[in-house]
Amino acid sequence: MYTIKPIDRIRAEVYPPPDKSVSHRAVLISAISKGDTQILNFLRSNDTLATLDCIKRLGIEVKYLGPNKLLVKGCGKYFPIQRKVELNAQESGTTIRIISGLLVGQKFSSKIYAESSLRNRPMKRVTQPLRMMGANIYGENRYGKEELPPLLIEPTDELKSIHYSMPVGSAQVKSAIILAGLFAKGITKIRELIPSRDHTERLLKLFKANIEEKKGYILCSESQLTTPGKIFIPGDFSSAAFFIVLGTISPDSQILIKDVGINPTRIGLIRILKKMGADIKILNRKNYFEPYADILVKSSNIKGITIDAKYIPTMIDEMPIIFVCAAFAKGETTIFGLKELKVKETDRINSMVYNLKKAGVDIEAKPFDNDWMVKIKGGSKDIFNLKSLKFKSFSDHRTAMSMIIFSLATGNTHYIDDIGCIDKSFPEFISIVDSLRKK
Ligand code: S3P
Repeated sequence: MYTIKPIDRIRAEVYPPPDKSVSHRAVLISAISKGDTQILNFLRSNDTLATLDCIKRLGIEVKYLGPNKLLVKGCGKYFPIQRKVELNAQESGTTIRIISGLLVGQKFSSKIYAESSLRNRPMKRVTQPLRMMGANIYGENRYGKEELPPLLIEPTDELKSIHYSMPVGSAQVKSAIILAGLFAKGITKIRELIPSRDHTERLLKLFKANIEEKKGYILCSESQLTTPGKIFIPGDFSSAAFFIVLGTISPDSQILIKDVGINPTRIGLIRILKKMGADIKILNRKNYFEPYADILVKSSNIKGITIDAKYIPTMIDEMPIIFVCAAFAKGETTIFGLKELKVKETDRINSMVYNLKKAGVDIEAKPFDNDWMVKIKGGSKDIFNLKSLKFKSFSDHRTAMSMIIFSLATGNTHYIDDIGCIDKSFPEFISIVDSLRKK
């Protein structure tokens, strides 16, 4: 049980942890390029360490040059290992789905295990398009028509390119297809229903792969990758998001968040918060393969809005904290297109509705148009006068952090059952929160 004690007035400068999505990809793409890559500001969290463990088991040499500085000795497209290999993605959906794209092109068999919540997360969204490319991959377990981990992969004679219209907005699925496309004959062409994060595309361009975007399609083909030698990974916008919201909804507060990635496919939250009336400024922009900047937020009186389904992929991981924002915003917030939240580490619609209802927030979730919507009537003064409550993380890092931010902004002491899950993406979260209290 963790006690969430209130903070009075925040004046702070915060460095968010390195970007999780880019850390996974930086390791995987460095591994399949020729030569040494230094990765500066690599995230050491449970999920990214799972990816690191996988590539070591595939025969790649990795050295720590400093606490967050890695040297990856790339082997070219084919991993050195020559025999069947067993990997464990732990609880990391990004690891299991993205690495599949690299393994289907190899000359050895592999099996990728999963732990806890990941054992029940859907895999057909990647196995199906990869099979269309000629890959031998399937989920060992089934749930109705769905395939679940572990994933079994056998070598194939030839991978062929596909033209694929993505039925679900998912950067993990898109990345797996792109990476398999590097091993396939012909040009792989992908169309996204709604654009999702494009870190794989940006990194592959930096590594001189054959990949381009043209008329709404992503095109890629067989490539040998060349390392740029060094990559710096900016701060994770999704982790920064908790402090962006904390600064907005806490009274008399100001937070400067430094060196945050501002890739346009990730910062939907900023657009939404500005529409709600938040005072947010992007300062010191730096152009890099992943652009980054400092973000200054000040307390604001925000109002409810309607969020259309087409914006969700640019803020999918921020939805739990957006629910919190909506609870503090005056009026009604309605959000469409939320069904993907149901297949994250936990069903995040369920976890957030449970916790916010417990705090007396007027929140309703319901199916709508083959998808899910949530309606929140916010701005009630009652949330500042709650007796101490015990929230539940549902073993989900983003639910836990969202409810901690909620509690801090109410100005009362609350509790949460488990915070160990936060190590999945943001091991320093609690110590940063504690440092705000000391000021
Ligand atoms: C991620 C993509 C998103 C996101 C996840 C990280 C990635 O998942 O929710 O935290 O790094 O590609 P989906 O691809 O399932 O949308």
